[in-house]
Amino acid sequence: MSFYSFSHYKFFRRCSIAFAFSLTLVFVANSLTPQTQATPIQCNKDPYKQLNLILNLNGTVTRPNKPPESPPASDPNLNTLVLSKDLSINQSKGTWARIYLPRAALDRGYKLPLIVFFHGGGFIYLSAASTIFHEFCFNMAHNVHAVVASIEYRLAPEHRLPAAYDDAMEALHWIKTNQNDWLTEYVDYSNVFLMGSSAGGNIAYIAGLRAAAENDHRIPKIKGLILVQPFFSGTHMTNSERRLVNEPHLALCNNYALWELSLPVGVDRDHEYCNPTVGNGPARLKIIQRLGWWVLVTGCSGDPLVDRQVQLVRLMQRNGVRVVGHFTTGDYHGIQDTEPLKARELYGVMKTFISAIN
Ligand SMILES: *[C@@H]1O[C@H](CO)[C@@H](O)[C@H](O)[C@H]1NC(C)=O
Ligand SMILES: *[C@@H]1O[C@H](CO)[C@@H](O)[C@H](O)[C@H]1NC(C)=O
Repeated sequence: MSFYSFSHYKFFRRCSIAFAFSLTLVFVANSLTPQTQATPIQCNKDPYKQLNLILNLNGTVTRPNKPPESPPASDPNLNTLVLSKDLSINQSKGTWARIYLPRAALDRGYKLPLIVFFHGGGFIYLSAASTIFHEFCFNMAHNVHAVVASIEYRLAPEHRLPAAYDDAMEALHWIKTNQNDWLTEYVDYSNVFLMGSSAGGNIAYIAGLRAAAENDHRIPKIKGLILVQPFFSGTHMTNSERRLVNEPHLALCNNYALWELSLPVGVDRDHEYCNPTVGNGPARLKIIQRLGWWVLVTGCSGDPLVDRQVQLVRLMQRNGVRVVGHFTTGDYHGIQDTEPLKARELYGVMKTFISAIN
């Protein structure tokens, strides 16, 4: 085990027992190896076909095999550990938030941290109502002991980036001003985190950079970012992408097609939405450093994106950001959405992270 990412001794001391950070040297070696020119891989030239999407004549997109969705349950008489309800953010855009309130906070009237959560799905698929995310957020609210606001944002390719980032910023404004009692009574606004998994991790990151740069008093004060297997790319292939080129949970051709349909038309993957090492990205990290945010980045060696996640941790370190990398061996992209034990492990890591910086 190597303690890779500590820049703060006190933090190290406070959580050295409970919080195991492991980052095998293999990862580090990988990310340091120059990115050699690989033989270009042959992908289907039609990104819609590649992703099994149907582009209709009227310009809409049909997503076959829509995964199941779950309704919220807000009745306090229900015998449930966590209550949930949907609140509209902007009706004209179809954006809303599903709020998860642990029962214990309601019964005993105390305030909890707020986790603003952005779901994954390559910017193209899924919803805050999708059963996998509903269950993930329900269990997260209970296990991490936090209020969770899971944000429904607009999807590409109908709404290409930066639409999802704009929706994230609007959601933060909305959270600051919304008078719903679940937020006003039970949220500790000095303890707010932006979080996302996969494409949602990308949204939390870019929205976080924007919030930091704008220093906007209309959004809640952010304490940190929690980036679970964040979705990034670039025009050059990394070693882990080459090693896992056909990984069934995130094959490289699918990955490229997702970016092709979600980035603004005409830009390549070395755009700052997609590659955190280019453009204003590194300079904006300096602002996060000055604001004193904490960042948790998680990843695993079975995810083709792991080298990029390790690179992100190193980039933050070089810019003085207080970042914690939690990397595991094996596993795969999105494992916490399908394996409850892995989700539970992640909640434990998050809970320690949140309590250690308070
Ligand atoms: C567009 O076409 C699809 C498929 O034919 C159809 O289901 C959908 O209702 C249409 N949408 C609009 C806004 O016309
Ligand atoms: C909702 O979004 C529209 C379109 O961007 C914007 O003009 C409007 O001000 C927003 N509404 C609210 C209530 O913020």
